[in-house]
Amino acid sequence: MSAFTGRHCVVTGVTSGIGRATALKLLAEGATVTGLGRSEDKLSALAAQVGAKFDFLVADLAVAGERERVAAALRRARRPVDVFVSNAAEAAYASPLAIAPRDLLRLFEVNVCAPLELCQAVVPAMPASGHVVQLSSVAARFVPNAKFGPYAVTKAAVTGLIDALRLELAPRGIRVTSIAPGLVDTPIYDELSGFTDLKKKLGEQVPSWLKPEDIAETVAWVLSRPPNVVVTELSVMPRGQAR
Ligand SMILES: NC(=O)c1ccc[n+]([C@@H]2O[C@H](COP(=O)([O-])OP(=O)(O)OC[C@H]3O[C@@H](n4cnc5c(N)ncnc54)[C@H](OP(=O)(O)O)[C@@H]3O)[C@@H](O)[C@H]2O)c1
Repeated sequence: MSAFTGRHCVVTGVTSGIGRATALKLLAEGATVTGLGRSEDKLSALAAQVGAKFDFLVADLAVAGERERVAAALRRARRPVDVFVSNAAEAAYASPLAIAPRDLLRLFEVNVCAPLELCQAVVPAMPASGHVVQLSSVAARFVPNAKFGPYAVTKAAVTGLIDALRLELAPRGIRVTSIAPGLVDTPIYDELSGFTDLKKKLGEQVPSWLKPEDIAETVAWVLSRPPNVVVTELSVMPRGQAR
């Protein structure tokens, strides 16, 4: 029996990259997974691929009403949530002098408000063996590039809230971890206007980026530590980026 057998894990952003790899890893280890995403087609395809231990909720986390709907569904869930992996996020590549206020607000809604509101929904019924994992970023600690400033501050904000949640939940025994990846080869950068040249340069500096599966393995490792061990935060970088 693995450390995941019978555990109900909620993972956001399971339609791509790290979230998808994490959902597949947790399912392979014997967990039951509820995945969140905004594309019903992609979620249905994943459900058809992985079978009955996977269920899903559709929501665009940029929309307050959709966050409320999905939070209410999680509060009503028949099974309490043992593990919440808050992974979904959007990136931006925009100068602090040029980003439109509505775009900055959207980043905060998806990257900060959604993780917090979903924690507020799942944590009250979480058992003492519960665990919250937030996907942060190395950009939470330093702004790597001016145009990554807006994204970086959302990651710093959500990481601060997760640190506060750790303090709040320690007396109940619930563990809270933030994982800060460096460069991971996922589609998150694909739609960023103006990012292509920087991506080429980064590819020369760091030829071999992490794979989503590297972070999924890290999440599974964190979740399978003995009950007396709390991994508070963990940075994972590709060789070549780490200094
Ligand atoms: N890739 C990296 O280098 C890197 C580095 C550090 C930290 N991270 C963090 O790792 C996490 C996963 O990123 P990733 O690289 O795996 O990105 P990704 O491949 O783009 O996946 C992001 C996931 O979030 C979902 N999502 C985005 N906006 C959403 C919204 N408004 N409503 C609902 N779902 C939404 C996406 O859904 P769709 O499929 O519909 O787009 C997708 O499932 C993020 O928190 C990111 O900040 C990534």
